[in-house]
Amino acid sequence: MTVLVLGSGGREHAIALAISRDPQVRDLHVAPGNPGTASFATNHPVALTDPDAVVALAQQVGADLVVVGPEAPLVAGVADAVRAAGIDCFGPGAQAARLEGSKAFAKEVMAAAGVPTADAVNCVDLDEVEVALTRFGAPHVVKDDGLAAGKGVVVTSDRKAAVEHARRCLEAGHPVVIEDYLKGSEVSLFAICDGTRALPLQPAQDFKRVGNGGTGPNTGGMGAYTPLPWAPTDLVEQVSREVIAPTLAEMNRRDTPFQGLLYVGLALTAEGPKVVEFNVRFGDPETEPLLSLLTTPLAQVMRAAARGDLSQFGEGLEFRTGFAVGVVLASEGYPGTPETGRPITGAESPDGGPDPDVIHAGTALDPEGRLVSAGGRVLVALGHGETLTGARQAAYTRLSRIELPGGFHRDDIALTAAEEEAFTAMSEPTSPSPSDPAQSE
Ligand code: GLY
Repeated sequence: MTVLVLGSGGREHAIALAISRDPQVRDLHVAPGNPGTASFATNHPVALTDPDAVVALAQQVGADLVVVGPEAPLVAGVADAVRAAGIDCFGPGAQAARLEGSKAFAKEVMAAAGVPTADAVNCVDLDEVEVALTRFGAPHVVKDDGLAAGKGVVVTSDRKAAVEHARRCLEAGHPVVIEDYLKGSEVSLFAICDGTRALPLQPAQDFKRVGNGGTGPNTGGMGAYTPLPWAPTDLVEQVSREVIAPTLAEMNRRDTPFQGLLYVGLALTAEGPKVVEFNVRFGDPETEPLLSLLTTPLAQVMRAAARGDLSQFGEGLEFRTGFAVGVVLASEGYPGTPETGRPITGAESPDGGPDPDVIHAGTALDPEGRLVSAGGRVLVALGHGETLTGARQAAYTRLSRIELPGGFHRDDIALTAAEEEAFTAMSEPTSPSPSDPAQSE
């Protein structure tokens, strides 16, 4: 197979790395990619949201399969255009991508499918916003209806801040969704879907707030780990039955079948798992630790999904035993305006080659060919272990060898769960691990 992966972040580096391990993959291309993907694939410039440009590139490289990483090209109809050109494409068409592109649409689908989620109100002016904020009370959850590059969701007990966020969304011409706050640990559960069938991955948890202890503003995610030792053993089965299957059925009923990666963001509430949000692509940074453990050949699964028949993978996806932890190294200033162009050292393996435990996100090469920072989230250091404590230690040890002036990271990725693991080894199991109160995005 010749495969073209679209995107340039840590998610796409992790996807491309997993695809490169598939024995059926002969030729791998990434567009635009990053210095990490350039170490084992061929990078190409492309305008990601231009369907014609993507189709032209896919034809030029002779792609048998195109994998769309980020949401914006999916919402722009890139997957539809690639399929119309006769090339298999992993990713939903524009209509199905509205599950992420419009929060109000996702709520409508969930209501029709009977999927458990927070009560919500779609507001088109500030009067409606005020009524909804009073109805649900604090903490307030205010969501931009449209794509907002990770800046669309505000969770706050400060009513003025909630109204201010709603005002900014409305002034930009977007409705806002105000919803009830879901109390409970947050879990990310991904499923590879072929339109009717779904293959769930193992659950993961990410850490959305910028600061230790879940403090500070929301980010794209500062770290993640998988699997979750504290998650109920029937969680995947329950979410498959109560969320994923009815959602796929409802999308089929609308003649917009969902094919690609369905990201189910959940809160484990006292009444059971409820959906916080849907996304239509792999999560970042959950994908980095998740795919590092996947042993099922990824390109073959994605091609089967793209062709609408995952039946040959009826046994489900397989993962290496043990745990994986990913810790994000961020640029000074993130999640505000990040400082970029700063030198990064220590990202390569001891022999000077690429290190599969260092996933590039916002990196670039300067004119002299040196690795520099080029975004807010710069890279993800991965660690693996038979225990969560071991995996954490490995990730933080790897990160400690990397230098970026002004760079910072959270110290507590997977910490509570690792402490519970250590405690449980000596005594009885404890309660679920707390998560950042992010209500996602
Ligand atoms: N980790 C959150 C997201 O990818 O949306």
